[in-house]
Amino acid sequence: MYVFKAAVVGAGTMGGEIAQVIASAGLDVVLKDVDQKFVDQGLEKAEQVTQGQLGGLVKKEKITQEQADQQQKEILGRIAGTTGYEGFGDVDFVIEAVPEKMQVKQAVFQELDAVTPGHAILSSNTSALSISEMAETTSRPDKVVGFHFFYPASVMRLIEVIEGEETSEETMQSALNFAQQIRKQPIRCVEAPGFVVNRILNSAVSEIWRVRDDEDVDVKEIDKLVSDSGAAPMGPFFLADLLGLDTVLHVAEHLNESFGDRFYVSPKMKELVEAGNLGQKTGKGFYEHGN
Ligand SMILES: NC(=O)c1ccc[n+]([C@@H]2O[C@H](COP(=O)([O-])OP(=O)(O)OC[C@H]3O[C@@H](n4cnc5c(N)ncnc54)[C@H](O)[C@@H]3O)[C@@H](O)[C@H]2O)c1
Repeated sequence: MYVFKAAVVGAGTMGGEIAQVIASAGLDVVLKDVDQKFVDQGLEKAEQVTQGQLGGLVKKEKITQEQADQQQKEILGRIAGTTGYEGFGDVDFVIEAVPEKMQVKQAVFQELDAVTPGHAILSSNTSALSISEMAETTSRPDKVVGFHFFYPASVMRLIEVIEGEETSEETMQSALNFAQQIRKQPIRCVEAPGFVVNRILNSAVSEIWRVRDDEDVDVKEIDKLVSDSGAAPMGPFFLADLLGLDTVLHVAEHLNESFGDRFYVSPKMKELVEAGNLGQKTGKGFYEHGN
């Protein structure tokens, strides 16, 4: 199936940029959140990213400023923000990007099942939850699939396309094609804990979290060491703050439950999450962000 129009549900850390990726590939996209304030934040994020990308092309003299202005208008004009389900009646592909809580996701999938056309594929950007459990709440489990972007979605090329128990081969193929249509590199995954990337990433950062807690080292020192070494663009604590500590903690707990203590859950991170300090999105996590 070719996708002509898409929708993104949840305009948070991931949703705004996902909508921008789709719009800059030339497709119309609806961006929904529960409150206009969050929709506006998602749209602002899409505008910032578009400006940055087109500004870069102008700097390199690939396009003129007039072309950039025109393209920006066109890209942002393809994103329709909403707090309701207007505009979902003719979508072909939906990406759910609401918080990592099964109950919230299941409720959204039920609503999506009711408001989208029968042929539409319903996907989840979940980092660790079961696609099959979300699919169960719909009348079309064969058309439910995982579609896992990485942060920041406008930059990272990979998408994990995750096959649930009932996902049809036709849906998998359409999702793999759609990922390429929006200029990403898909890989197929089964519904294994952490899929591919988070399982590898967490096996490494787990040890760093453990050492920090055991030795009580300053997170800034560790982050500086990692980024100075060139092993990664930033250290694991600053990265966790950007990703959202609630999401990072949930993935860590899921891997720990699945594979045992070699995947460490940091009590310090748990403490921060329980206090509502989720990183950049709330202004405080391991760092102060001054939002
Ligand atoms: N943050 C990351 O780095 C990252 C990377 C890959 C995947 N993910 C996954 O993407 C999903 C979203 O993560 P996030 O970091 O963007 O979360 P977030 O908390 O930043 O944003 C979630 C948004 O969903 C909105 N929302 C809540 N209930 C809703 C509903 N019923 N309908 C519409 N909108 C609703 C919230 O208002 C919020 O704006 C999660 O499943 C997460 O695991 C996150």
